[in-house]
Amino acid sequence: MFRTDYCASFSAKNIGERVSVCGWVQKQRDLGSLIFIDLRDRTGIVQLAFDEATPEDLFKLAFGVRAETVLTATGVIRPRGEGAVNKGLPTGEVEIAVETMEILSRAETPPFEVLSAPDVRDDVKLKYRYLHLRHPELQQNLLFRHKLAKAARDYYDREGFLEIETPVLIKSTPEGARDYLVPSRVHPGTFYALPQSPQLYKQLLMVSGFDRYMQIARCFRDEDLRADRQPEFTQLDLEMSFVDEDDVMAVNEGFLKQIFKEFLQIDLSTPLRRMTWHEAMEKYGSDKPDLRFGMELCDLSDLVKDCGFTVFSGAVQAGGSVRGINLTGGADKLSRKEIDKLTDFVKTYRAKGLAWLKGGEEETSSFAKFLTPEEIASLKDRLGFEKGDVLFLVADGKNAVVFDALGALRCKLGEQFHLYEKGQFALLWVTDFPMFEWDEENGRYKAMHHPFTSPKDEDLPLLDTAPEKVRAKAYDIVINGTEAGGGSVRIHRSDVQQKIFDVIGMSREEANEKFGFLLEAFRYGVPPHAGMAFGFDRLVSLLLELPGIRDVIAFPKVQNACELMTDCPAPVPQSALDELSIAVTKTEE
Ligand code: AMO
Ligand code: AMP
Repeated sequence: MFRTDYCASFSAKNIGERVSVCGWVQKQRDLGSLIFIDLRDRTGIVQLAFDEATPEDLFKLAFGVRAETVLTATGVIRPRGEGAVNKGLPTGEVEIAVETMEILSRAETPPFEVLSAPDVRDDVKLKYRYLHLRHPELQQNLLFRHKLAKAARDYYDREGFLEIETPVLIKSTPEGARDYLVPSRVHPGTFYALPQSPQLYKQLLMVSGFDRYMQIARCFRDEDLRADRQPEFTQLDLEMSFVDEDDVMAVNEGFLKQIFKEFLQIDLSTPLRRMTWHEAMEKYGSDKPDLRFGMELCDLSDLVKDCGFTVFSGAVQAGGSVRGINLTGGADKLSRKEIDKLTDFVKTYRAKGLAWLKGGEEETSSFAKFLTPEEIASLKDRLGFEKGDVLFLVADGKNAVVFDALGALRCKLGEQFHLYEKGQFALLWVTDFPMFEWDEENGRYKAMHHPFTSPKDEDLPLLDTAPEKVRAKAYDIVINGTEAGGGSVRIHRSDVQQKIFDVIGMSREEANEKFGFLLEAFRYGVPPHAGMAFGFDRLVSLLLELPGIRDVIAFPKVQNACELMTDCPAPVPQSALDELSIAVTKTEE
């Protein structure tokens, strides 16, 4: 071993000990007759000291050392000189009086200083990800991620779950995104898919009798990336037999309770709040409501359905609605120009406009002139308007547009006006999702979660008459407005499964072709089963209160799904394509 301990492990209690340390030079300071080197490893920093007592060769060596050089040093721990104590560092009271030092690897001038990483351009940081990963914040993130994974394995082990690996080269599993495909060499013209989740395999494990399964599983989805989405990501995935929704929620609440206590010193009160999908949409315009603040949506449709302003009345008559929110005390915080910006913002959610009313010394509004004073008064009353508030209204013939636009505006205002604090957490289960959603593109229903999700028993008759009204035994865990995980009770009755395929327009042949193995397995004795998966990257970033998941992943991809460090995806030699019987018909410019 090169070292006796990590850099940050030394303190005043070690004074007088001879120790060896290894690491990277963070900074070298040359004060003429004194040289200090801050040496860094994954635990932190220790100061190496060279002075008049240092042998001349060693002093010279220290003089020439540059940032990011890798070295090992041996010396004696001593107190720092008067005035040199750094209370901000765990090792801030001591330094190592170096006796010997060996340069293990010299470093060229790096493209950026490790500590300056927060100010460096993203693409540069990602190209040199291994340098950015030296930054203490990223080191802490990955350490935290490791601890959370360990806590998960320990918790679910105690609860009787077995960690079982499922394959990565598979037949497609439907989770609604595009598959990544892997060509088969042995069977020309055929492909494996990378799993979007272990869904079908974990259900088969239930058929096999494993009863409680968990896995920290890598998933792959070829979809548009956002701050909380990567093309490959990790799920904390689990499945249980002989259970219902309440059992799944309870065991996972136990996990959340434990990690919030262990990692954040927060006592979660369980059972967690539950809210139906319908209520979440009505009150927050979102199926993942951020409950850290209020500003609930109000339905104003009945008040304006016959008013003279056709933007409002027309929306209601077209089967949509007019809804509003109240930014309490917002009048003196929002200029006209800022309101115009918010109008542009809601338009990105397909809203046609944003109607507003701003209280203050003088009341101004984009729509008041189109309504009667009585109508205005009733709107204000419904929205709890007081002088100094700002009201925002969206009208549309489609409720989904109103919800999307106002729900997003609510979150934007919540963030912009600091309606919640750092360290504040709001968790809830959203339940009773609709079983199906209308797929505009293909003109038919598709399963909102996945087609193996069980409808609610009392809604089974609606499968034939009104599929859009069928609710699913599906649940999402939402933390601070992010979908941290989701799952469902699965169908284990073949007649119900067949009905679902019928509703989504999947023929028997297609179902057999795609999932025949699962349907067949269910013929040989399947227990009632249910499960869920946390987005593990999301869970880590939520607990760390980071804006996205990128910096809780060691080597993430960027928006266009490239990895900048290794520069992939990349072309392959013709010989490799030939071997796979693949002809490329289009290449990127
Ligand atoms: P679902 O598709 O909801 O369910 O995925 C579960 C959770 O995984 C996270 N997630 C992602 N995280 C990062 N990048 C992505 N591209 C990404 N996509 C999803 C989310 C999500 O809540 N098999 C089912 C689970 C089940 O029914 O048991 C499934 O995959 O946090
Ligand atoms: P107009 O008569 O088009 O000038 O609209 C008057 C006000 O209503 C403007 O502030 C518009 O932004 C707003 N507005 C227009 N369409 C909508 C809509 N669909 N929902 C809410 N407000 C709207």
